[in-house]
Amino acid sequence: MKAAEIRESYLSFFEGKGCHRLPSSSLIPDDPSLLLTSAGMVQFKPVFLGLRDLGFTRATTCQKCARTTDIDIIGTTGRHHSFFEMLGNFSFGDYFKSEACAWAYEYSTQVLKLDINRLWFSIYEDDDEAEAIWRDEVGVPQDRIVRMGAKDNFWSAGPTGPCGPCSELYYDQGPEVGCGSADCAPGCDCDRFLEYWNLVFMQYDRAEDGTLTPLPKQNIDTGMGLERVAAIMQGVHSNFETDSLRGIMQCAEEITGATYGVDEKTDTSLRIITDHARAVTFLISDGVLPSNEGRGYVLRRILRRAVRHGRLLGVEKPFLQLLIDQVVTRMGDAYPEVVEHHDLVRRIVASEEERFGATLRQGLVFLGEAIDDTKSGGGSVLDGIMAFALHDTYGFPYELTVEIAAEAGLEVDKATFDVEMAAQRDRARAAVKDDSWSAFGHAFGEVAKLIGGEVEFVGYGADAADAVVVGIVVDGATVERLEAGASGDIVLNTTPFYGEQGGQVGDQGLIALGDARFTVSDTRIPMRGLISHAGTLEGGALAVGDKVHAAIDVERRERIRRNHTATHILHWALRKVLGEHVHQSGSFVTPDRLRFDFTHFEAPDADQLSRIERLANAKIMENHPVRNYETSLVTAREMGVTALFGEKYGEIVRVLEVGNFSKELCGGTHVGRSSEIGMVKIISEGSVGANLRRIEAVTSFGALEYVYTEEALITEAATTLKCRPAEVSEKVAGLARRLKETESALAEAKRLRGSSDLEKYLAGRVDIGYPLVVTDVPDMDMAALRDFVDALRQHMGGGAVVAASGNQGGGAVLIAAGDVKAVSAGFDAAAIIREAAPFIAGRGGGKPAMAQAGGDDVAGIGAALASARRLLGVE
Ligand code: SER
Repeated sequence: MKAAEIRESYLSFFEGKGCHRLPSSSLIPDDPSLLLTSAGMVQFKPVFLGLRDLGFTRATTCQKCARTTDIDIIGTTGRHHSFFEMLGNFSFGDYFKSEACAWAYEYSTQVLKLDINRLWFSIYEDDDEAEAIWRDEVGVPQDRIVRMGAKDNFWSAGPTGPCGPCSELYYDQGPEVGCGSADCAPGCDCDRFLEYWNLVFMQYDRAEDGTLTPLPKQNIDTGMGLERVAAIMQGVHSNFETDSLRGIMQCAEEITGATYGVDEKTDTSLRIITDHARAVTFLISDGVLPSNEGRGYVLRRILRRAVRHGRLLGVEKPFLQLLIDQVVTRMGDAYPEVVEHHDLVRRIVASEEERFGATLRQGLVFLGEAIDDTKSGGGSVLDGIMAFALHDTYGFPYELTVEIAAEAGLEVDKATFDVEMAAQRDRARAAVKDDSWSAFGHAFGEVAKLIGGEVEFVGYGADAADAVVVGIVVDGATVERLEAGASGDIVLNTTPFYGEQGGQVGDQGLIALGDARFTVSDTRIPMRGLISHAGTLEGGALAVGDKVHAAIDVERRERIRRNHTATHILHWALRKVLGEHVHQSGSFVTPDRLRFDFTHFEAPDADQLSRIERLANAKIMENHPVRNYETSLVTAREMGVTALFGEKYGEIVRVLEVGNFSKELCGGTHVGRSSEIGMVKIISEGSVGANLRRIEAVTSFGALEYVYTEEALITEAATTLKCRPAEVSEKVAGLARRLKETESALAEAKRLRGSSDLEKYLAGRVDIGYPLVVTDVPDMDMAALRDFVDALRQHMGGGAVVAASGNQGGGAVLIAAGDVKAVSAGFDAAAIIREAAPFIAGRGGGKPAMAQAGGDDVAGIGAALASARRLLGVE
């Protein structure tokens, strides 16, 4: 069976058991406690916790998953992946252990037709019930059931949240595959007993302090690794030899010229390149972009690891794009998103590879210096911290450091390197913080359960509504009543307030009942289906059950509306001018301005920006109708509606159309006709990351204000310049030219004045075995003073000069210079400057024949020269 056939047979088998077939959710989870979607159950977390009701109690999916915590293992085995597909079946308080076990057995033996004699079953150490089910209900021989500890057989998606004991199915690949040791059994690290299916009996919610609270209902979460099952079905011992992955690896072989199966080191590199190419393709297609933090960093690490393994196999040129093409060809049928974003993935990968090439070169220089330092210090071991820094900063492979160090006759301190790596791993793990099921989430969860449905949002059409208070949350706990002066969150059964979502800020306004006035400062969506109003009760009291009047700040919402529709029009104009690769990667719409982040590979020039702005404004003036309506995601896609990059959508979506040129999925609030925007003005454009640009713009009154301010600036400048506004630029250019001419004329004049005054300064000359002048001169900079000193010495026919000047800029300069005769008679310019410089609060230096200093204290010039005289004995 090919991977695609297994996928289909699994999903239809469980449809036959009454499960709803649902699509995979995005690799970017809807859950702040997780960096990436790591299992099929992630999209169902709120359902397991009883916080959401899907309207059915059985589901089956094929989920895209990413796991990179132990990235170093990936490639060294045939069964670990950074990206893989998990086939799952789920029960939300419906079927439990008996059915989960029986169906897993039925699918394994009847559909996959696996050899019963090769199957093993693990259970949690004290789960007698599971043992009895396997043995008595399913008919598994007792000696095929093994008990294991919490590490293997107690499953949770993270430190907190739904979890429970589990039972795993293993397939024995035969003694020739494994480690060969006598006690090799399921759970051994080797490849012999392949764990292919995990059945989790999800019955607890783990709190932050580790306590387990029984969930409202008992659930089932099972996960079967598609790649592992494909390996079993295709009779190969490594996932990388299964149909889909083998095809990608073949491409890696062609690019690198290496052959799989000859040498373990080469095989590891080929597996890494193959595995990582899939992860990179899927991560970027789901909206992850390379960066130095969070999931962007995970992506960057994977991508770099693939590139460096290409290097290890001798590929110097960018090559990942070719593999991406393979991934898209082989997996595009099941995952249309990789086809849709193919071009974008290619471009991002190409530019990352190029950047990494440069870092790799810098790393080599850094390593070269470290090697030289170690050797010149007589050492034979390269510092482990150095190796770690190379790895961390330059993405430099440890093995490469070892290899290059060895060529120079050095070893690398691996112990220290390992310690640093372990510390970094801990930091990375700690960075994945967990706050999704915190008190805050739980309190709103309770409210959600109480209202048993969704809050109705009426704000597309209405600015105010009568509503009932259905929940009040203060400091993470639900309360019945709010007294005057108190702050908290209020949930209404229906509301015109828009909760911050899709980049549009939440509404502000007032919730009132008699003298009770609750000012809403922000509106949020703490969990899907719930809208909460954060604010303060200015007077009176409010209680759950009260009938209130909720009214938004209409003028503020108007401004938000204009900015939001303008964002869509700009998006359209950007694609028109810069190209179809432009995707929105984020936006932020407030009453004052809009921010729009998009993928693009260089800074747009002034001409492009002006075309974008003109196009957008033309569309605004054309007064297009703006329509929004609901439809199914499938229909929307067929209509060619732009879905936002990296955004997740439900089955029913809202489409926003401006005229017939812009169609986007969007739940925000918008103007009725484009001309209400008035005008859009781009006020800044810049880079916010690799291949990511940001523009900020203002509309309507904001744009007008912007134009007024600019106009006032020009008018003011024109008044100062005594010209008409249209002449400002010409006038300033003329002034700048004249200023430059005047400055050089002034410098010339100073030089001339200096030489005509020479005679005056010569009058102060003394003879101490050589002619010497010590003097100050008004208003010269260093260059002018140097010319003056040279001229004076020329006039004297040799000798020495010590001169100082306080110049216009407020600084003081000091020069001492003497000829050979003076120096051999004891004149030491450097010593003089050393002595004198502190008096002008300055620093400087030089040689016995010539030294200079600059300082800040003009008032100290007299003292500085006096110290020089003292040193020369001419006081
Ligand atoms: N959540 C479990 C796992 O990932 C079973 O799906 O193994």
